[in-house]
Amino acid sequence: MALPTINPTTTKAWKALQAHYQNIKDTHLKDLFAESPERAATFSVAWKDFYVDYSKNRIDETTKRLLIDLAKEVKLEEAIKSYFEGDIINKTEERAVLHTALRAPSSHHIQIDGTNVIPEVTEVKKKISGFCDTVIDGTLKGHTGKPFTDIVNIGIGGSDLGPAMITESLAYYKNHLHVHYISNVDGDHVHQSLKALNPETTLFVIVSKTFTTQETLSNATTARSWFIEQASAEAVSKHFVAVSSNIPNVTKFGIAENNIFPLWDWVGGRFSLWSAVGLSISLSIGYTNFEALLEGAHDMDDHFRATSFEDNIPVILGLLSVWYNNFFEAESEAIIPYSQYLHRLPAYLQQGIMESNGKSVDRIGNPVDYQTGTIIWGEPGTNAQHAFFQLIHQGTKLIPAEFIGFKHSLFNDKDHHDKLMANFFAQTEALMNGKTEAEVTQDLKSKNLSEEKLRELIPFKIFTGNKPTTTLLIDKLTPKSLGALISMYEQRIFVQGVIWNIFSYDQWGVELGKQLATNILSEINNTQISEHDSSTKTLLKRYLS
Ligand code: F6P
Repeated sequence: MALPTINPTTTKAWKALQAHYQNIKDTHLKDLFAESPERAATFSVAWKDFYVDYSKNRIDETTKRLLIDLAKEVKLEEAIKSYFEGDIINKTEERAVLHTALRAPSSHHIQIDGTNVIPEVTEVKKKISGFCDTVIDGTLKGHTGKPFTDIVNIGIGGSDLGPAMITESLAYYKNHLHVHYISNVDGDHVHQSLKALNPETTLFVIVSKTFTTQETLSNATTARSWFIEQASAEAVSKHFVAVSSNIPNVTKFGIAENNIFPLWDWVGGRFSLWSAVGLSISLSIGYTNFEALLEGAHDMDDHFRATSFEDNIPVILGLLSVWYNNFFEAESEAIIPYSQYLHRLPAYLQQGIMESNGKSVDRIGNPVDYQTGTIIWGEPGTNAQHAFFQLIHQGTKLIPAEFIGFKHSLFNDKDHHDKLMANFFAQTEALMNGKTEAEVTQDLKSKNLSEEKLRELIPFKIFTGNKPTTTLLIDKLTPKSLGALISMYEQRIFVQGVIWNIFSYDQWGVELGKQLATNILSEINNTQISEHDSSTKTLLKRYLS
């Protein structure tokens, strides 16, 4: 079944939300809490080791009811069913979207074109597990008989960001292997990384679903040349493996078929870390931990599939995002993990969210006349507080923010963790409450300032507050809880794509730049500049001069 094609702005719920927005848009969060002291219980979900508090959002019970009506009117329930059942919901590429099958238990039965995909998935998982065990325990050796010490993942976009983010996030659980990521076609990236490596003990994992990506093929070629220079061409087979769905291109590159870990066209690049694309993750933390990551994601999938919208975490988060994006006209959202381990999470989610929902044509092919994908940005707290929080607190833009924190730290340093979490809680409270003129005046009075100085300072010290935040308090950062967290964001992307009536699983927008770069490269190679606008032409001439 195809996804429904309902323009959300034509629904009854959308119109009701527009009217409701006029009533609530100026209401202060402080007043909402004062009116309903039970608000925290009303607007929160406790699920496994997650506690999601969305009470500090500019909503009331009517908002929630209307947003859920909107989800129902655009047939989100039916869409979820189609998605999990492997229908061709990535219509422009004629593909199913089944990253969820990668984390489903082996007993499950998920069909594409009448074939159950789970046995194949299980087979590849066995291959990953067996391979990782032998690299980690040192039985698999390099060409001079030494065990591997370094893994180099070469990929870009989904073939880099997911594995790199998870490897960093789960660094606490890692083994002795040093895992490096090379992505940028900037030669300084690959050469700088190779500088520190010993070819005898380095294993290269070339990750590219299509195996046509310029950056990855260039970096892989450079790495292979470097390797051959120091070792030999015959030794390549012991030091290079690939993850791809394009077996002919990989073998053409010189990697033997038994060194290829396959994936399927029904796994989108930015949702592929659960597949063999996660090989470097599994090498870094061991297959058992990788499996726990998958299990956590599967648990969240189950929650998403089976829970009524009222208590469904990805649905609620997706709806809140729609509420700010389409009614408050917020342009961006901040994601602030209070864990240094999660420092790559915002960058990873930028691809996931912005490549998926950065679309302006609806599912029929017409331009949309409403806003879609939000701009995502963030950095870990507390660093973020000392960088851009000023703008969230006192700037002119409304920036809903998601705070992710953990009850327990991994090294159990209570002193540090209490300080970190005190900031975590304080920021959402400050963003909500702000500071009134009376409070500022009282504060300044205690500082023995002249009346004139006091009056002068007051306007600068007032915080309006009323800045919405959602707080995710998770027990502990483990492979399982991280899997659930990432799946939560993936499902939230799906929810928003369905509501906005767009296709979330293609990415035609990145193609134009790629094509133009190919043309310009051939002009650079031939030192012959063809027709361009005067700006591009001058820049190219200066580059070549
Ligand atoms: O940026 C476009 C894109 O196609 C992403 O969707 C994908 O993750 C990335 O390029 C890398 O693609 P591949 O894995 O095929 O090299």
